[in-house]
Amino acid sequence: MTMRQSLTDAVRCLSSISQEEAYLEAQLLLMAVTGMTRESLFQNLTQDISPANEEVLHQLLARRLRREPLPYIIRRRFFFGLEFYVDGRVLIPRPESELLVEKALQIAEEKGIHLAADVGTGSGAIAVSLAVNLPHTLFYATDISSPALEVAAINCRRHGVQERVHLLQGDLVDPLPHAVDLLVANLPYISHVTLPTLAPEIRHFEPAIALDGGEDGLHCIARFLATAGPKLRPGGALLIEIGESQKQEAVPIARKYFPKSEIVVIPDLAGKDRVLLVRTDALIP
Ligand SMILES: C[S@@+](CC[C@H](N)C(=O)[O-])C[C@H]1O[C@@H](n2cnc3c(N)ncnc32)[C@H](O)[C@@H]1O
Repeated sequence: MTMRQSLTDAVRCLSSISQEEAYLEAQLLLMAVTGMTRESLFQNLTQDISPANEEVLHQLLARRLRREPLPYIIRRRFFFGLEFYVDGRVLIPRPESELLVEKALQIAEEKGIHLAADVGTGSGAIAVSLAVNLPHTLFYATDISSPALEVAAINCRRHGVQERVHLLQGDLVDPLPHAVDLLVANLPYISHVTLPTLAPEIRHFEPAIALDGGEDGLHCIARFLATAGPKLRPGGALLIEIGESQKQEAVPIARKYFPKSEIVVIPDLAGKDRVLLVRTDALIP
């Protein structure tokens, strides 16, 4: 069987679960199986696929048909232009969270950040992306999940930032030994009503601890806002990802714990409220 036939079969097979992504996913699976880049795959479409690779492709397709997310199957995911190792121990980093990194880098450019922390780091995608782009900043990256921190450690090593990103296990900001200039957090924010409505890829495969934000989705975020103040240096800033419909509830919580600071909600490129920013250097009258 040629690579082209394998690709066509894979697309047909994947169309049953995801019409839009079937072609792209088929390519990525074939690339993972053969170890080829996209370019070499397309240059070799008329070549035969080896029986061993054909067998592996069938196994991977079967996993995908059981709705395992593709990034877990191919063990990688791009985030902020960097390739991260991912598996079922961590949430798959989402493109929406790149806005957190972008805003954090803007703040760093404005005022210089010596010490920062990523709370609920998961795969380490946010901390590592920041560390790669801010070579003079030291980071703490915390998570309640030890298995998630094992994945974060892989990604710190992969991107050569393991000396500057200190991984700490524990609840929210508890493990931070010092106050920092910048706190960044993408914590679980899915409410109990929403959890059962999520795609099977998320519900059945991504870690519940990375998704479950309690009854109203804001349990973790509220606890984070309540405890973050003492872990911020004077003039420090806090950036937190929120769900698109959580602005109305999240802003008053932030206001309660940061009554004098500027609080803004920043929309993503699709216009959805996505990031809540607290700036303790910009005081309101
Ligand atoms: C939505 S995931 C985000 C992961 C990563 N920051 C990202 O953006 O891809 C939330 C992360 O917070 C962690 N987490 C959940 N509750 C926590 C807590 N109380 N303290 C610290 N981390 C927590 C989870 O283990 C998970 O890795």
